[in-house]
Amino acid sequence: MRTQVGIIGAGPAGLLLSHILHRQGVESVVIEKNSRENIEAIIKAGVLEQGTVDLMNEIGAGERMMKEGFHHEGIILRFDGRDERIDFPSLTGGKMVTIYAQHDVNKDLIRTRLATGGDIRFEAKDVSVYDLDSSAPKVRFRSKEGVLEEITCDFIAGCDGTQGICRPSIPAGFLKVYERLYPFGWFGILCKAPPSSEELIYAMHERGFVLVSTRSPEVQRMYFQCSPTEKLDGWSDDRIWAEFRARLETKGGWAPKEGPIFSKTVIGMRSLVVEPMRYGRLFLAGDSAHVVPPTGAKGLNLAASDAQILAQALIGFYKGNRTDLLDQYSATALRRIWKATRFSWWMTSMLHTFPGADEFQHRLQIAELDYVTGSRAASTALAENYVGLPIQ
Ligand code: PHB
Repeated sequence: MRTQVGIIGAGPAGLLLSHILHRQGVESVVIEKNSRENIEAIIKAGVLEQGTVDLMNEIGAGERMMKEGFHHEGIILRFDGRDERIDFPSLTGGKMVTIYAQHDVNKDLIRTRLATGGDIRFEAKDVSVYDLDSSAPKVRFRSKEGVLEEITCDFIAGCDGTQGICRPSIPAGFLKVYERLYPFGWFGILCKAPPSSEELIYAMHERGFVLVSTRSPEVQRMYFQCSPTEKLDGWSDDRIWAEFRARLETKGGWAPKEGPIFSKTVIGMRSLVVEPMRYGRLFLAGDSAHVVPPTGAKGLNLAASDAQILAQALIGFYKGNRTDLLDQYSATALRRIWKATRFSWWMTSMLHTFPGADEFQHRLQIAELDYVTGSRAASTALAENYVGLPIQ
């Protein structure tokens, strides 16, 4: 079999790429190792930048997101026992963010792609990519039905995430890896309760960071900073709520709305960027090329901007015989990725308590938050990064 673009991975990067290409008459096949049910169930953060929301709408996949997502015009920064709000529209010329879980984004993209004749091979086993430095790179896999298949492509897009096969298929030593591990993790819970706040709360406290987020009017998502090796045992619901109450206290006596906790997970925190995002005719997009700590809420949005930049480059090739955009893909995408990496690192550093940090450090962090929320220039810097920087 032949296709123009072989796409490995049916996450947001791969599905967006496939659908943007389709709308411009470029064909692709998406190969995914998980089942449709599993992909639609991957619970991940879902803060969509204005540009990601606009893209979903533009390609006809945004209807449910507009109806069921929460459109937030600001966030609360809580520190020193008080709340300060960052107002996005007034600082960014009217932009805001939409809270909509990643598995819902995926569901909508899969439905939209299949409804327009998309070819997505779920449950593909033993996926591998070959001849990447030739003009006819190939994908091989065993289909759901057990048949060995080979697809010859013009290009392959590696959209298969951090643990995917695309990045490791690039010869050792070709990629430069930039990585930073943070000395803490996040203990995340899902609970059955009404929202505690109308907007997300990012709280800095000496006991450690807390994020109050939401999933629906009935289900809330909250996180507290923990050790990167924290075990779930030992954390009863009572102990978890006591920790949240302690870290979220304000001078006004604020407390979260509590309810039964039905999911507990510990996630690690790291930053990773690989360069370049291309080897021969293999292009990396999304988490296969970079990871950000969740504090800046950038992961899904970077996948979306990579997909957009790569789609434009491929469309330029097919429609205009241009190779310059493909040649510039890595550099163009990396400029935005490094800015999001910087923002995520900055938010993480400003809001977390680092092991061994002293009282002086804590005072500096309060001063930084006081400055960021008190200065229009500094608030604007946070707001414009949070709602999303321009694509190029
Ligand atoms: C989430 O809702 O899971 C979430 C929201 C904002 C973040 C990270 C995670 O910065």
